[in-house]
Amino acid sequence: MAAIETEGLRRDFAGGIVAVDGVDLAVEEGEIYGFLGPNGAGKTTTVRMLVTLLRPTGGRATVAGYDVADQASDVRKSIGVALQEAALDPLMKGRELLQLQATLHGIRKARGDELADSLLDRVGLTKAADRRVGTYSGGMRRRLDLATALVHEPKVLFLDEPTTGLDPVSRQAVWQEVSDLNDEGTTVFLTTQYLEEADMLADRVGIISDGKLVAEGTPEALKAQVGKPHLELSLASADGVSVSSEGNDAEEDKAEEVLARFGKLLPPRDGKLLVEVAHGASDIAPVIRALDDSGLAVESLDLVEPSLDDVFVEKTGQHLEGDDDAVDGAAEPEPAAAE
Ligand SMILES: Nc1ncnc2c1ncn2[C@@H]1O[C@H](COP(=O)(O)OP(=O)(O)OP(=O)(O)O)[C@@H](O)[C@H]1O
Ligand SMILES: [Mg+2]
Repeated sequence: MAAIETEGLRRDFAGGIVAVDGVDLAVEEGEIYGFLGPNGAGKTTTVRMLVTLLRPTGGRATVAGYDVADQASDVRKSIGVALQEAALDPLMKGRELLQLQATLHGIRKARGDELADSLLDRVGLTKAADRRVGTYSGGMRRRLDLATALVHEPKVLFLDEPTTGLDPVSRQAVWQEVSDLNDEGTTVFLTTQYLEEADMLADRVGIISDGKLVAEGTPEALKAQVGKPHLELSLASADGVSVSSEGNDAEEDKAEEVLARFGKLLPPRDGKLLVEVAHGASDIAPVIRALDDSGLAVESLDLVEPSLDDVFVEKTGQHLEGDDDAVDGAAEPEPAAAE
């Protein structure tokens, strides 16, 4: 049975906004599914429908086998949710908040206290347990929010942008926690704007843009669709001149002949030779050895991997991170100067 399944899931808002526009998903039990997309793509709206906070206006969805519209309370018992905007009472202490959460889930006090302690330990907040949440950093809040989502040991965990705005150390801590939970069997549905996060954590990634799923697969498969990794290298020739400068054609030819044994040669760029390789990092040593055997010394070598951003660009014509400009150069015009 799929942990999460949707068919034509759709959500309209007043004013003709289609936030989620017919999404089909099947997340297997035990998977970490990364839902990747830019601002406004429809990630949160999808999550809100799946966790029964918002009714779909079209299609259907089941979570843990229960229909989100007709069996909402069964869905809620099966899931943990950490939303994008964590609503934590700033006046409460971390420990109190977890104890309260346990009570709300009908857990007896002694057991709830135990749970609170172990969850605080788990997310690294034991020292801050008796401080008010209002004094926590952003990262500490996200971790506490994650802990509250775990109180009733949910089968399926929904995390909406769990690491947005966190520093690298806190981000790593959340990744580790998510990965540990998943090792224990929890299915995780996680939204993110970060390519690296989807790449590192997710077993499978769905890319959403304008309410539509535009690509789906393992990070490896998605990246393989847009191209293989390639090596970029420059040679140190005997006279210290780069091979691609004039007068070294013979050496360049020889190098290309060697490189072609490893994969497709790509057009040279910036005086560097480019060759596609099948495996990536494990191809580096054999390539260097083969060049060496032919009397060619490598001056520099870089492994360039296709990224999920390349996938995103291919599907949408936009970069996911960094800039909002269209890749084809159709950037927003500058505002006209006042006449
Ligand atoms: N309650 C609402 N009323 C009207 N429009 C909404 C509402 N909630 C979301 N939208 C619109 O639906 C679209 C998708 O929003 P959503 O919050 O799902 O995006 P998101 O992918 O989570 O973005 P972000 O990365 O910024 O969190 C946006 O155009 C948004 O303006
Ligand atoms: Mg969102």
